[in-house]
Amino acid sequence: MSEFRVRSIRTLDAAFPVPGDKSMSHRAAMIAGLADGVSTVRNFLPSEDCLNTLGAMRACGVEVEVLEEMPGFGPTTMRIHGRKMELAAPTRPIDCGNSGTGMRLLAGLFAGQSFETELFGDESLSGRPMGRITDPLGAMGAKIDCLGEKPGCAPLRIHGTKLTPIRYELPMASAQVKSAVLLAGMFCDGTTTAVQPAETRDHTERMLESFGVKLSTEGNAISIEGGQVPQARDFQVPGDISSAAFWVVAAAALPGSRLVIKNVGLNPTRTAVLDVIERMGAKITRTVTSSEAGEPIGDVEILGGKLKGTELLKAEIPNLIDEIPVIAVAAAMAEGKTVIRNAKELRVKETDRITTVVNNLRAMGGQVEEFEDGMEITGGSPLHAATMESHGDHRIAMAFAIAGLFASGETVMRNTECVNTSYPGFSKQLAAVLAESKVEADYDLPTVPVQP
Ligand code: S3P
Repeated sequence: MSEFRVRSIRTLDAAFPVPGDKSMSHRAAMIAGLADGVSTVRNFLPSEDCLNTLGAMRACGVEVEVLEEMPGFGPTTMRIHGRKMELAAPTRPIDCGNSGTGMRLLAGLFAGQSFETELFGDESLSGRPMGRITDPLGAMGAKIDCLGEKPGCAPLRIHGTKLTPIRYELPMASAQVKSAVLLAGMFCDGTTTAVQPAETRDHTERMLESFGVKLSTEGNAISIEGGQVPQARDFQVPGDISSAAFWVVAAAALPGSRLVIKNVGLNPTRTAVLDVIERMGAKITRTVTSSEAGEPIGDVEILGGKLKGTELLKAEIPNLIDEIPVIAVAAAMAEGKTVIRNAKELRVKETDRITTVVNNLRAMGGQVEEFEDGMEITGGSPLHAATMESHGDHRIAMAFAIAGLFASGETVMRNTECVNTSYPGFSKQLAAVLAESKVEADYDLPTVPVQP
């Protein structure tokens, strides 16, 4: 079992990129796999989650030529030979590992096929709700059996069929559900519409459009006409703002720090974490330098300062849902109260992230009150080291490794293999930050010049 051992640092002065965006890498594997022609995808995230999705597409006959790898992890640059919307039947059940995005989006993709598919995952994924996608896909005509011990949970047996388009009002703000419905809609005759109660990340829409698929948007209703074939294209996946968020908080909470994250995705449906950390008192500059597959990319500079508490706005929650564990760590470092509400979705992530965050913050001496839909953190009192469990949740492991950078004593985070589900190379970057020195990179990722 691997672990992180972390001690406090005085300041952070660094400039580095983070690996490719997880949400976009899943979609790149799927959409390029469905496309007409060969797409070259660069900076694909070679994390377990995304490699499982790539494996699922390979299992459906999609040929993937690997051009570059991140040593020890997997492909980063590849040519994906699309199957022009004609997937082959996989010969065995498909492993989605730890990934809710992988399983839910693939379920959308497989619902309209002429074959049967089985999707399974690890213990955490087998306990997460799948009714949120089996409901709309069922309304489109797909028959999906939830075979898990827990009702409404994976494994999923998907009996693919010719689907009927629907207009679906999502009961929760979920990009995964929206995407599953839109991907299923590609295999229908007619118009499928997903209506979201609040804006969620729009990578599926942007990537489909960049592959030449037409969508229409009216307010929060997104419609797709079935029967369109994505046209292959080459593109680079931007760095993952959710991975950058760990370092953003590290720099923000250490006055005098300066950090530049290079080539990161700056899609406005993902950047609320920067708004919140800025509101808490850090100085943040975003510079958009280019755009790839309809996604803005740029550099983010963070100047650390004395942080103060804030309230997360209801509309911001879907936009920063994955960053809440590390925002909670920033809140513990900030003077005053930080209020996080309307975030009940956190209870059905890789762990119940309300409980895991509250327990870990308390273990480090943080003052926090737990609510059904969030928490209130009273920050400003010093954190002390603790030995904590990730419970197999990558974002919990990384958020509390960052907390260790601010705490007295040696913080131990146990069971950290899970970080590979979203952030290969994290432990190396963390080691570089702790060594306060420059590391030599195998890959152009962990170049972290740090000056005390
Ligand atoms: C994701 C959407 C979010 C997010 C997840 C990735 C995606 O989940 O938490 O990590 O790629 O669509 P929900 O859409 O279920 O909120």
